[in-house]
Amino acid sequence: MQLKSFDNTADLDLYAAQLFADALKKNPKATLGLATGSTPIGIYGKMIDMYQNGDVSFKYATTFNLDEYVGLTRDHKQSYAHFMQQHLFNHIDLPSEQTHLPSGNAADLATECSNYDRMLEEQPVDIQLLGLGHNGHIGFNEPDHSLQGGTHVVELEEATREANARFFDSIDEVPRQAITMGVGSILKASTILLVVKGADKAEIVKQALQGPIMTECPASLLQTHKNVIVLVDREAGRLL
Ligand code: F6R
Repeated sequence: MQLKSFDNTADLDLYAAQLFADALKKNPKATLGLATGSTPIGIYGKMIDMYQNGDVSFKYATTFNLDEYVGLTRDHKQSYAHFMQQHLFNHIDLPSEQTHLPSGNAADLATECSNYDRMLEEQPVDIQLLGLGHNGHIGFNEPDHSLQGGTHVVELEEATREANARFFDSIDEVPRQAITMGVGSILKASTILLVVKGADKAEIVKQALQGPIMTECPASLLQTHKNVIVLVDREAGRLL
């Protein structure tokens, strides 16, 4: 596991975006694993700058997102599909048919999950971006006595709903379920880039990287992967 700490967020975001650009330079058809939430917004901003400056093209890339809320349509303002349009896809040359998010609105969620896994098997992720939840979740894999390997429907923890309520008008509007790639699918990526920002994540990132490997802290399973790069800002990294 490589750990890099940054004094300022703009440098961290640029470094992360550059890793994605490098993957695309090496293989223009690379498969990129993407995340939502506050953590990647600046990174996507840097990717857009790189695209606009002619430094990178996404034309032949394929993307898979980690997760999506159940019950929200793709065009709902808080859906992750909408988030990706707004923060990245609308601003780069990535054809929409090469972008993938699980559909939280599918009539048959079990089939949606197995279809997503099938697509991931056909186009394995080269580099997967991850944020970290305050409870140690990655994707929406919440702490539990056991974890599911593949894409599945998950009940969101109240703490997660509360953390995400800031994006909705009220907590009642935050969905209770999501579809998420499983930890097993996440660990299949060739390279994993875990990005952690902010003092409020200092404890959990320490637990995830230096604590015991246990399903009660899903991110701790990243310790079993041979190619994880962790980028932290000074506040998040202060206990490491
Ligand atoms: C989002 C996701 C989540 C977030 C995590 C951190 O696609 O998979 O695991 O990465 O909840 O969220 P932020 O970045 O908002 O602190």
